[in-house]
Amino acid sequence: MKDVTAVVLAAGLGTRMKSALPKVLHRIAGRPLIEFPVRAALELDVAAVVVVTSGHPDIEASLTQAFGPKVVTVVQDPPRGTGDAARVGLARVSTERTLVFYGDTPLVTARELEQLLAESRNADLALLSALAPDPAGYGRVLRAPDGRVLEIREQRDLQTDAERAVREVNAGMYAATTSVLSQAVAQLQPMNAQGELYLTDVVATVAARGRVVALVGSADSLVGVNDRAQLREAEELLFERIRGRLGREGVLVRGDARIDDTVSVAPGAELEAGVRLRGTTRIGPDCRIDVGSVLTDVTLGAGVNVKPYSVMSASSVGDRAEIGPFSHLRPDSEIEAEAHLGNFVETKKTRVRRGAKANHLAYLGDADIGERANVGAGTIVCNYDGFQKHRTVVGAEAFIGSDSQLVAPVTVGKGAFVASGTTVTEDVPDGALAIGRARQENKPGKGAELKARFAEAARQAKQKKG
Ligand code: UD1
Ligand code: CA
Repeated sequence: MKDVTAVVLAAGLGTRMKSALPKVLHRIAGRPLIEFPVRAALELDVAAVVVVTSGHPDIEASLTQAFGPKVVTVVQDPPRGTGDAARVGLARVSTERTLVFYGDTPLVTARELEQLLAESRNADLALLSALAPDPAGYGRVLRAPDGRVLEIREQRDLQTDAERAVREVNAGMYAATTSVLSQAVAQLQPMNAQGELYLTDVVATVAARGRVVALVGSADSLVGVNDRAQLREAEELLFERIRGRLGREGVLVRGDARIDDTVSVAPGAELEAGVRLRGTTRIGPDCRIDVGSVLTDVTLGAGVNVKPYSVMSASSVGDRAEIGPFSHLRPDSEIEAEAHLGNFVETKKTRVRRGAKANHLAYLGDADIGERANVGAGTIVCNYDGFQKHRTVVGAEAFIGSDSQLVAPVTVGKGAFVASGTTVTEDVPDGALAIGRARQENKPGKGAELKARFAEAARQAKQKKG
């Protein structure tokens, strides 16, 4: 599509979002809204993409970060309506043909834009419409009795009940030659309830002397995000699309698992209901991620088994490791192949080497746990002295008995043993046993004596009451 420039309008105030963040930077399924239409345009391999913005530096930065120099921005200030925004954008276009659409319609697909462009080659102007289940808020496509498109009328400018009953709405995508669009835009007048220049009015201008076609697309693709209720609606539709795509790619996605558009999942993985995968998460082949687990910026190798309700962020997990249920991997955890972390185990900036295990109730922060080491239930790494964090090293094949504390900085040597209930404050040499707990004393018969005494006290209390 080298004769086409895409102009994306994103300079509106977005007041209906009730937010300080510019509307098009609100995220759905892990990406700012504006990225979706821009990506659709880039998929078409157009000559250029021009985004009309309010000049907010964060929009510029976000686009540059995502697309680099492939996308140029131009500022519309003040925002005097979509028609004015299109005029600003069109001034930057040097191709024969232009596609104008909005930055707040994230569900439009490259395929629909492609069809629209094809239609525009047989007409003076082509626009995308849809039959909306609920047309409220959208501009209506008004046609002559013979079906010709006459104009688009905004919701607030509708006059009769018959107009209000029209279900065909304007999806907000237009394609024509650059000269037709530029001339029509130059003629716009602010003759409406808002006192703005409406891009939609170009339809009546072109229809007055030429042919306008409205291509009826899918109702999903038209969802425009003006407020957070529509943001939610658009996001749910997008999650459903992503689930469908993954299913075709060999991933089993059950129930309502929500996978960001930025995430990649290899074939053979199974994702259960309530799973949430976010950000730069990468899931290797044949992983299983069970109910309610939330992974943000996490890399899983092959065949990793994540049991229910595990939470991980900015971490990596090696092949065939087992995590959870209820594990918490905080940032910079590096869990190597075949390691096991069980229920209520928390890690942070910790490397758990190949085959090591911490199966129950442990905190492992700022630590390096050696290969095949075994960390017993209730082990706590005391990494913070109130001022600074310190590191703990546990050697390969070491055994840490239950309910021990490792007071960092400290090293437990290779193959060393730490007896249950020990507070380790000094390094333990390789192969040594560390034991540090109060000695136990047994008092013969004392247990039976206590039991008898309690029974007698209970009998007397009962007698007193009765
Ligand atoms: C617009 C259409 C409506 C259509 C709907 C589809 C107009 C007048 N109406 O309504 O027919 O059914 O989209 O979603 O076009 N913008 C600017 N500068 C401005 C004003 C807006 O760049 O001065 C941008 C916004 O950032 C937004 C887009 O244009 O991305 C659409 O503006 P918005 O105010 O959301 O229009 P709608 O009321 O949704
Ligand atoms: Ca809108």
